[in-house]
Amino acid sequence: MLKNTKNYKKNTLKVFIKTFGCQMNEYDSERILYLLASEGYRRTFNVEESDIIVFNTCSVRKKPENKLYGHIGRLKKLKKLNPQLLICVGGCTAQNFKEKILKDLPYVDIVFGTHNISELPELIKKRRLLSSSICSVRNNGFDYDLKKAKRTTKFKAYVPIIIGCNNFCSYCIVPFVRGKEISIPSKSIIKNIKNLVSDEVAEVTLLGQNVNSYGKDLDKDILFSELLEKISYIKGLKRLRFLTSHPKDFYKDIVHVIKERDNVANHIHLPLQSGSDKILKLMNRKYTSNKYLNIVNFIREEIPECSITTDIIIGFPGEERWDFLKTLNLVKKVRFSKAFTFIYSPRKGTKAYRMVDNIPIEEKKEWFKELVEVQNKISYEENKRMIGNKLKVLVGGKSKKNDGMLEGRLENNTIVNFKGSKKIIGSFKFVEIIEARSFYLIGNLCS
Ligand code: 5AD
Ligand code: SF4
Repeated sequence: MLKNTKNYKKNTLKVFIKTFGCQMNEYDSERILYLLASEGYRRTFNVEESDIIVFNTCSVRKKPENKLYGHIGRLKKLKKLNPQLLICVGGCTAQNFKEKILKDLPYVDIVFGTHNISELPELIKKRRLLSSSICSVRNNGFDYDLKKAKRTTKFKAYVPIIIGCNNFCSYCIVPFVRGKEISIPSKSIIKNIKNLVSDEVAEVTLLGQNVNSYGKDLDKDILFSELLEKISYIKGLKRLRFLTSHPKDFYKDIVHVIKERDNVANHIHLPLQSGSDKILKLMNRKYTSNKYLNIVNFIREEIPECSITTDIIIGFPGEERWDFLKTLNLVKKVRFSKAFTFIYSPRKGTKAYRMVDNIPIEEKKEWFKELVEVQNKISYEENKRMIGNKLKVLVGGKSKKNDGMLEGRLENNTIVNFKGSKKIIGSFKFVEIIEARSFYLIGNLCS
């Protein structure tokens, strides 16, 4: 039976959005929701009742890309039931594989790139008038307006400070899909955060592929540590975070700001990628394992309680067991609170794609398992050290792991599960840590 299409009217249309990948994509989805809300679309979490489905895609690795194809494949049925339904694909995969999407997925209506988000309402109107799919993918450009994002959480906000990436790590597709670095002037960032704070936002996370490059492309502006410090003085801003730092540009003054300013969270995400200097060189990371260790030592000397998290890639072309063991050793030495670990995924167009890769995938998977086991044990031990402490969490919502519990994040970004009333969601509370797991803690709410 054909779904009743009488609700194809302004104010009653519903949008379903699925986001893949990083925080920058999550932020882009907030922008998409803002734009569509201004056109009268309401968000739904039930794909079957939606009038527009938006996939905001990621192409950093092959896996999320495959997932996208699976998801869209399942929508064919819905499209038959509701011919008015529009399927839109945006984000990095759209930017990178527009032709492939249009060819392989003929029921996709709109393909839009990472630099074309603000055009989406126009593209939807256009598509409603046309009988064929439309595609809008620009290679670069800047269409960010910080005022125009619909926060998914009332008390937390992402704020991009620098878009794109100039680093061209040899495995990475991001510089190709996000374009060159463009810093947002500090004045507009600060103004935006002041507005967010007056709108009850307690925690702000500054976003950039490499926040440490902030300001380098601006004539007369400030560097990242200065920006961080300035923002931390915004009255009423309770917690300030930032993602992601690059070891090659990590300056000591950032650590000083974290140390001096109470509201800047004690957490640094510092992707290591590999502990082998040979592989770091092939990856074009522009630092050595020694430099990385020096940064870690400096952070630990200055702020012993600061958590350090990381990203690691296993099985890069040319990596041998010997290189892997160097990564494993570094992981044991540093003792990260948490590591996001990935098996190398070849991305067409990158330099590494053309490198000889002789190691069988089975062996890579073995190394990967070995690394995950070591890191999980470290994470568990590090988490155990917090047992008995009364620590402050920002209560985020219902626990994803334990039914009937709430979850919150410590300043060091570790998740804590505890019992409490939903009324405290969005506020800061003290929790006594009573148990540890590898990925989170369990606590009792202090009265
Ligand atoms: N293969 C595997 N992991 C990758 N990353 C980026 N590109 C690739 C790739 N081609 C990882 C890096 C990066 C994180 C966001 O994703 O570790 O820091
Ligand atoms: Fe990719 Fe490297 Fe840029 Fe990070 S710094 S986005 S890994 S190219």
